Amino acid sequence: MLSAALTNAINTQIALELSSGYVYLGMAMWCAENGFKGAGHWLQKQFAEEQEHAFKLLHYLQERDAEVKLHDIPAPKAEYAGLKEVFEAALKHEEHVTASINKLYELAVNEKDYATQIMLQWFVDEQVEEENNVKDILDSFKMVGAHGGSMYMLDRSLGSRE
Ligand SMILES: [Fe+2]
Ligand SMILES: [Fe+2]
Repeated sequence: MLSAALTNAINTQIALELSSGYVYLGMAMWCAENGFKGAGHWLQKQFAEEQEHAFKLLHYLQERDAEVKLHDIPAPKAEYAGLKEVFEAALKHEEHVTASINKLYELAVNEKDYATQIMLQWFVDEQVEEENNVKDILDSFKMVGAHGGSMYMLDRSLGSRE
């Protein structure tokens, strides 16, 4: 039986994954409005990935016969100063999610809930990957600077995300 504390914490994480998706959707809408088609595509893919993360946790609660409680999802930010600021905000957001996953893992360790620890290992790995993906994009910004033509190419390359 999953403890009440872990059930609550996983339900909170489900809300955080869904609100992450919503944050990315807000960014995707800003990109669409500002002509960054490729980045908008990348962010829309990220929106879908975050929903998958929420479903993974949701299915886990169901498997453990724990109650799923859906929380309110706050409206995401709609305005950004530029494309670089979008990805800087994405990195900050992912760092916040990583901290939350780590706290959740710590709780599972303290409670000696091994099944939850194993399930959460996937999320620990995923956060390393997600932070790295955004860092790589921010590195490309450093290389291209504010040069218009290079920004166009960078946006195009983000549009090729499968
Ligand atoms: Fe996520
Ligand atoms: Fe994420």
